[in-house]
Amino acid sequence: MKEYTLNINNKKIQVEADPDTPLLWVIRDYAGLKGTKFGCGMGLCGACTVHLNGQAIRSCQTPISSLKATSKITTIEGISTNIDHDVQKAWIQEQVPQCGYCQSGQIMSAVALLKINPKPTDEDIDTYMAGNICRCGTYERIRKAIHVASN
Ligand code: FES
Repeated sequence: MKEYTLNINNKKIQVEADPDTPLLWVIRDYAGLKGTKFGCGMGLCGACTVHLNGQAIRSCQTPISSLKATSKITTIEGISTNIDHDVQKAWIQEQVPQCGYCQSGQIMSAVALLKINPKPTDEDIDTYMAGNICRCGTYERIRKAIHVASN
């Protein structure tokens, strides 16, 4: 066990954990933020997507030892700037979720996409979002909501 200091959603938290503890479990169990979901635990589904310094990452594949105290971790609970609100509003407008389980990860990836590509094409969206799996098949609505948010 080792002591780590992390910055999650602009809040400092102290964590005592094994170095290989995945960030996903730190977020859920230590920080108590349950919006980030466990899907596959193997980096294949995207349910656990959060931002590390603004970039979408798979928190199940990110050991706590790879993070610095200065690393800025943002979860679904932490997105509240203008563009992020636009994405969440678009998600509601387009009634994207079905069961909803994967949607935090979908939104976090969509926000990261729009930061690097404010006007993505269908192809750009499909390519960027390919790692976020939705078992309900809401891909069509996800694509539409991203276009709405990008306007
Ligand atoms: Fe991390 Fe599936 S739970 S990618």
